[in-house]
Amino acid sequence: MPLDVIVGAQWGDEGKGRVVDLLAAKANYVARYNGGDNAGHTVTVEGQTFKLHLIPSGVIHAHTTGVIGNGVVVNPATLFEEIRSLKDAGVNVGPERLRISFAAHLITPAHRAIDAAQEAARGKKAIGTTLRGIGPAYTDKVSRTGLRLGQMLDIDTFSSAIEAHIQEANQRLSMLYSAKPLDVKTEARQYVEYARQLQPYITDVSVLLSEAMKNGQRVLAEGAQGTLLDLDHGTYPFVTSSYPTAAGALHGLGLGVGCTERVVGVTKAFQTRVGAGPFPTELSGELALHLRGTGANPWDEYGTTTGRPRRVGWLDMVLLRYATRINGLTELALTKLDILTGLETLKICVAYRQGGRTFNELPLGPGELAGFEPVYEELPGWEKDLRRVSAWEDLPKQARAYILHIEELCGAPVRMVSVGPEREQVVEIS
Ligand code: GDP
Ligand code: IMO
Ligand code: MG
Repeated sequence: MPLDVIVGAQWGDEGKGRVVDLLAAKANYVARYNGGDNAGHTVTVEGQTFKLHLIPSGVIHAHTTGVIGNGVVVNPATLFEEIRSLKDAGVNVGPERLRISFAAHLITPAHRAIDAAQEAARGKKAIGTTLRGIGPAYTDKVSRTGLRLGQMLDIDTFSSAIEAHIQEANQRLSMLYSAKPLDVKTEARQYVEYARQLQPYITDVSVLLSEAMKNGQRVLAEGAQGTLLDLDHGTYPFVTSSYPTAAGALHGLGLGVGCTERVVGVTKAFQTRVGAGPFPTELSGELALHLRGTGANPWDEYGTTTGRPRRVGWLDMVLLRYATRINGLTELALTKLDILTGLETLKICVAYRQGGRTFNELPLGPGELAGFEPVYEELPGWEKDLRRVSAWEDLPKQARAYILHIEELCGAPVRMVSVGPEREQVVEIS
């Protein structure tokens, strides 16, 4: 089958960009299917680091075409900024190698302003969003009042639509949140200019990818965020507003179910989360510092998009088993195993306890995660620096036991173990 799906198996930032970069070597198209510039995907090649927010990570390989599907919300300002910074870094992404769905929705400054106003109004119940306007853009889509990229093909009608959108958003901003309104003419003029620039990128992504697959070409679907941030299947309401799970790939690109071959779940060797919400295996103190790092290394756990320190904890196998089921994962890619070096004992959460009862599965899904205590198994750690290891046999036996135990607990094979951010720092397992 011609389609492989890369999906985050945790709360995002699992190292999807890094895994996509590896698999993109054999793909013709790399397609983002959900989210927007709330994502931050890192790819490191020969010391050069790329941080991608909206453009698929696979474009670092010159032979690929990047695709942005109907499931994505597009902020033209950040899109063009990203195209510029990639160009400065030697990666050219023009309309000939970046195709965007006519059915993708736009993010506007009004969406960003509403995101900020809503977060402020939530007070202590804030979600900790990335403030990129994601929730409000998807809300407009679901309310059937959103602006689709396809509308930009007719400048006159788009011009009226964007003005009406800013006017309506201004009412919400001032009446609901006492926030400052936006200047309608300025914003509309800017978006009409974006429309002119975006026109050559707009296409029917479903047709493009289906035809390519019929002609024997391979497509890689690049998920943003992660399973536990999925609007339906995540830790609701502490989620994003799109569908990062594998089913979202098909819906977000307009593809049929039958074309999928591999569904690769990317997971760190431990757990992280940025933003609010439950996190049963969360750590603090010395152990947290070991996992997070101080910020001195580029791979330390500080948000790629927002720079916020990430919350860290032990690997949660109840949640990874859940992600395996929800996505139908055919395999796992395990990242940041190198970070566990130097810990004497590793813990893995294998079940939860609540009210004297033990649960191997969550009774009501991750939305009802609060109040569960982790049940841990302990495994011995290792001292060896893994960053130069490239063969399974060269991993310390404790690291191999850790990996085998993960496979056993979630029922999916680990096919790739990443031991550093560089393209080459990987152990492939056949
Ligand atoms: P994404 O959003 O899933 O693409 O992940 P991010 O790019 O936000 O965060 C992952 C971070 O870990 C980035 O800084 C990567 O360069 C880094 N990274 C990925 N894999 C590894 C690994 O195996 N070891 C180390 N040390 N860093 C890694
Ligand atoms: P990548 O693709 C980690 C989190 C935010 C917040 C919640 C809702 O790099 O893995 P939003 O702005 O989407 O409305 O915020 O989702 N979040 C992410 N966390 N990685 C991401 O993307 C994220 N995108 C959103 O921190 O908790
Ligand atoms: Mg990220």
